[in-house]
Amino acid sequence: MNPLLSKLHPYPFERLRELTRDIVPPAHLRAISLGIGEPRHATPELVKQALMDGMSGLAVYPPTLGDPKLREAIAGWLQRRYDVSVNPATQVLPVGGSREALFSFAQTVVDGSRPGAVVVSPNPFYQIYEGAALLSGASTAFANSDPARNFAADWGQIDEATWARTQLVYVCSPGNPSGAVMPLSEWQKLFELSDRHGFVIASDECYSEIYFRDDAPLGGLQAAKALGRDDFKRLIMFTSLSKRSNVPGMRSGFVAGDAALIKSFLLYRTYHGSAMSPMVQHASIAAWSDEAHVIENRALYRTKFAEVTPVLSDALDVRLPDAAFYLWAAVPGGDDIHFAQQLLAQYNVAVLPGSLLARQAHGSNPGSGRIRMALVAGTAECLEAAHRIAEFTRSYSPPSPPSLN
Ligand SMILES: Cc1ncc(COP(=O)(O)O)c(C=O)c1O
Repeated sequence: MNPLLSKLHPYPFERLRELTRDIVPPAHLRAISLGIGEPRHATPELVKQALMDGMSGLAVYPPTLGDPKLREAIAGWLQRRYDVSVNPATQVLPVGGSREALFSFAQTVVDGSRPGAVVVSPNPFYQIYEGAALLSGASTAFANSDPARNFAADWGQIDEATWARTQLVYVCSPGNPSGAVMPLSEWQKLFELSDRHGFVIASDECYSEIYFRDDAPLGGLQAAKALGRDDFKRLIMFTSLSKRSNVPGMRSGFVAGDAALIKSFLLYRTYHGSAMSPMVQHASIAAWSDEAHVIENRALYRTKFAEVTPVLSDALDVRLPDAAFYLWAAVPGGDDIHFAQQLLAQYNVAVLPGSLLARQAHGSNPGSGRIRMALVAGTAECLEAAHRIAEFTRSYSPPSPPSLN
């Protein structure tokens, strides 16, 4: 067996299952889960229809590079959304959702045979980054999220010796779990570090279309262009239709950016056998070419967050995020696991303890003391959960800290 497999950590939901295995929630309250971040709004008809219309494609093997029409539709979206121009022949590649691409990209760019190979990740983080790093033969270094700076990853925690060994940096903007959007000044810092140390930046932007401020979140390619880096050197963005178009089951996304990196990634993917089904390509062209359903979807999230956030912020330290579909709240007493267990036991609401989404680094676990609530169900269900959480919080007694005697 590949010995690196044994380095993988259990997924947060596996750990949550363990931690709640013996809990019997009250039967008179309907179970509500705000745990898993899986979009639950309806899939638009135009995407379903295009999927069916693409059936004739089942008779052929699709090329890994994808249909030129898909790559053009993606380039068109990038132009409209970010005002950036990419060459659809060399700077865009369809992928089976951002998850698989975030993983396989590390296998393409990381040279695990180089002593001390490092992949830098924000902390808390989407667990695929860590698994991708470990299976590529690298070790991870973490930049903790800083609550005082809108939960921005503190890249300053990585020392020079570690940067010198860093081959890949994951950026998650809008972030999971905080929803924070990385500002241009932070991009500038990272680009300068990348120029100095030669690492590649993988920018995970899968929540970019769900946002609550007036301005749409800044994208990585957009930031590069604004800073005069039109060739997107050492930069690749990752996104998907999962959240934008409510099709997590379709497994459709793309990467775009540095042509040299795309070329190597295409080579890797050709062997890996990860070409997108022609039906999915057909539906994806329809989805990337339409903005009306995205505006409608965003409006649903905005209404939901506007109703739910005040109910929770009356009881917990939480506020409207920049973007994405999570609320990231501090819990009284700071024991996120105890809080989540008691909430489930008393009110039958599941939330994700923040410490399960992060690692101990630089002397702390930056997810600890917080919970992540995914507002993916309908507004009524999320509101009911929020009222239950608020009521629970008002009567909640945190466990006493362990005695030092
Ligand atoms: C931060 C982040 N990146 C990537 C993904 C993967 O999404 P998909 O593979 O559906 O694009 C998720 C899924 O929840 C996520 O939270």
